[in-house]
Amino acid sequence: MNMISLQKTNTIGVIGSGAMGSGIAQVAAAAGENVVLYDSSTAALQKAKASLDATLKKLAEKGKMRAEEANAVLSRIRFASDLGEFSGCGLVIEAIIEDLQVKQKVFSELEAIVTGDCVLATNTSSLPVTAIASACAQPARVIGIHFFNPAPLLPLVEIIPSSFTDAALPARAKSLMEKWKKVPVIAKDTPGFIVNRVARPFYSEAIRIYEEGFVGQQGQGFATIDWAMKEFGGFKMGPFELMDLIGNDVNYTVTETVWKQFFFDPKYKPSLTQKRLFEARLFGKKTGRGYYDYSRPMPEPLKDITLGENICWRVLVMLINEAADALYYGVAAKEDIDLAMTKGVNYPKGLLKWADEKGIEFCLQTMDRLYAEYGEDRYRASVQLRKMVREGKRKFYE
Ligand code: NAI
Repeated sequence: MNMISLQKTNTIGVIGSGAMGSGIAQVAAAAGENVVLYDSSTAALQKAKASLDATLKKLAEKGKMRAEEANAVLSRIRFASDLGEFSGCGLVIEAIIEDLQVKQKVFSELEAIVTGDCVLATNTSSLPVTAIASACAQPARVIGIHFFNPAPLLPLVEIIPSSFTDAALPARAKSLMEKWKKVPVIAKDTPGFIVNRVARPFYSEAIRIYEEGFVGQQGQGFATIDWAMKEFGGFKMGPFELMDLIGNDVNYTVTETVWKQFFFDPKYKPSLTQKRLFEARLFGKKTGRGYYDYSRPMPEPLKDITLGENICWRVLVMLINEAADALYYGVAAKEDIDLAMTKGVNYPKGLLKWADEKGIEFCLQTMDRLYAEYGEDRYRASVQLRKMVREGKRKFYE
């Protein structure tokens, strides 16, 4: 097999010019790379060109970039309607539709075009990188490089080696991402990688609390939980505002995918409340209505401090428990788990650091209390927390 290098990244190929692909192209070009951006749809390619043009102009107008620099970034992106233009690339990043068969087909088509040492990366958020690589003649060159939306603004990139990936490739991908001014973390090829797994309780526990009805009905209930997470947790957005922004179609689908991929582990079970919104096409801000109705004034929360603190800590402990579990099962190193949540979804603090501050024992006791109360597997405490308490280990970071 040829040496897979990533050194020769003089041209970066990006396949799929949608929200993610055009953002990734912008990031690479801003870092000085020459980029070829391809899409099978001419309309999508034209749209990407117009929107990159507008974005870079805006950056120059706002003084975030010199006008010449903005022009230079744009001139480094070549918009291609022929896959053959990837032939000289050192790295191709795929950001097409989230469909395993389509991705596998594109990867084998790419292999017939690129040279033997070209690295093929996928930006998938929910498909196993190993399954995509399995369709390749040279699966050792395939790796996950997962950006967050919007790619130019969110610093996190998850690097995901598959079962086949060349052992030297993750470190090389990491240094390339650093060159692109990103914050890379390495994650195991497990459902949701780090962020989309660890963040699940932010949404699901918030919905569960709402469903229990003691926080107020409808809008007031959502507003109370959003207020609690912002007021006592320091989150920039509450879970319902955030789901409405991400889109309940996207957020529900990620939840369902992670749950299915974990063989229906009840910890990740989606909620009927969100499923109904999804079925009603009440996707959130983009459709004018989701949890909130954006044609009306926003509802007022019930600003009860004890209630707010209880809500916040219940959600936070569930998040900490998930982060601890990800650590226990070797999904990533503790520093990477904390970085992932602060740099990928803007959490005010790393969850394991938060656990240290609040106390591991408190977290375990909260989980055990929830489990005793509800008797549901969804509330099972992570072995990581239980072991730490048993062994008298008080902190993740000593
Ligand atoms: P999008 O729908 O905005 O763009 C996808 C583009 O791929 C479209 O322009 C489409 O024409 C093109 N395409 C579809 N099939 C193709 C093919 N066979 N060959 C070439 N082009 C093709 O999708 P988005 O949101 O940019 O997502 C792309 C990938 O990135 C997916 O795998 C998604 O899971 C992942 N991702 C999405 C994030 C998000 O928040 N939107 C975040 C991180 C990853």
